[in-house]
Amino acid sequence: MKEQLKTIQKDALEEISNAEDMKELQAIKVAFLGKKGSLTQVLRGMGKLSKEERPVIGELANQVREGITAALEEKTTSLEKLEMEQQLQNEAIDITLPGRPVKVGGPHLLTQIIEEIEDLFIGMGYEVREGPEVETDYFNFEALNLPKGHPARDMQDTFYITNELLMRTHTSPVQARTMQEYQGIKPVKMICPGKVYRRDTDDATHSHQFTQIEGLYVDKNVRMSDLKGTLNTFAKKTFGEDREIRLRPSYFPFTEPSVEMDISCKVCRGEGCSVCKETGWIEILGGGMVHPNVLSMAGYDPDVYTGFAFGMGPDRIAMLKYGVEDIRHFYTNDIRFLKQFHQA
Ligand code: PHE
Repeated sequence: MKEQLKTIQKDALEEISNAEDMKELQAIKVAFLGKKGSLTQVLRGMGKLSKEERPVIGELANQVREGITAALEEKTTSLEKLEMEQQLQNEAIDITLPGRPVKVGGPHLLTQIIEEIEDLFIGMGYEVREGPEVETDYFNFEALNLPKGHPARDMQDTFYITNELLMRTHTSPVQARTMQEYQGIKPVKMICPGKVYRRDTDDATHSHQFTQIEGLYVDKNVRMSDLKGTLNTFAKKTFGEDREIRLRPSYFPFTEPSVEMDISCKVCRGEGCSVCKETGWIEILGGGMVHPNVLSMAGYDPDVYTGFAFGMGPDRIAMLKYGVEDIRHFYTNDIRFLKQFHQA
């Protein structure tokens, strides 16, 4: 029996030391120490031994079991360590690999144009104001001398939400709001950029949503020549010092007199070409002297205060400046288009 135990110990230790993974080790444990394991089998035969032999063999058997158990534990630890090392190696991050380039975005072309125009007017002492895109009928129309039923409301096809609420058709309501806030006491010198909405069918030159920047200057002694000088400065700074402007009479319900401003065509320099529709001039914006009704509705005495207002479309300006042939490019957000205007 002694011999048997020694063989078991020797075999077990050898197998343990050769085991390559935890599964194998577990199988070895069962094979030797399990219920049907070889050591257990031997111990079962102890009953047949003599009284003298039993304690000797018993002690030896214990030693063998302890030896095997200790060897199993030791091997478990070392296998676990090995597994951990392998895992670390497999999951190691190769810090010498070159990094993936990070794509950096940039401001949208319209944002760039709007910010450029804002900067220009801030430099002339204007403040930048914003207002709600969902606007009341009162501020979008009535406060601008467009009472309900006024035929000129048709100039701006409107998305109505209710009878009194609509998507603003221009940024002029921000001007009405500001004048009302200043209560007819303080002068107003402001521009208001923002999104506007009109019930148009989208095509190359129309979009149901586009952008506007409007300006308003109300004070004592503001004259038409101030409007002309301001717009001339704007045109030259935005399109180039060599551009000329001209004002044509026009009609807006909130200004009297009203004008439209053209700039000279850069392509043909006044000769006439397809860009300027053979006229030598390109229409850029509308403006005029604030209508006395608009001033008095906002609490300004039209006998004391005068003012000018103007409105322009950054979409159109961007199209002219960069030769963009379709307004929808600004809103479909094709990155290949937008990327061309990213500044470093
Ligand atoms: N609000 C006008 C428009 O959207 C533009 C404009 C503004 C005209 C101010 C005159 C004065 O068409």
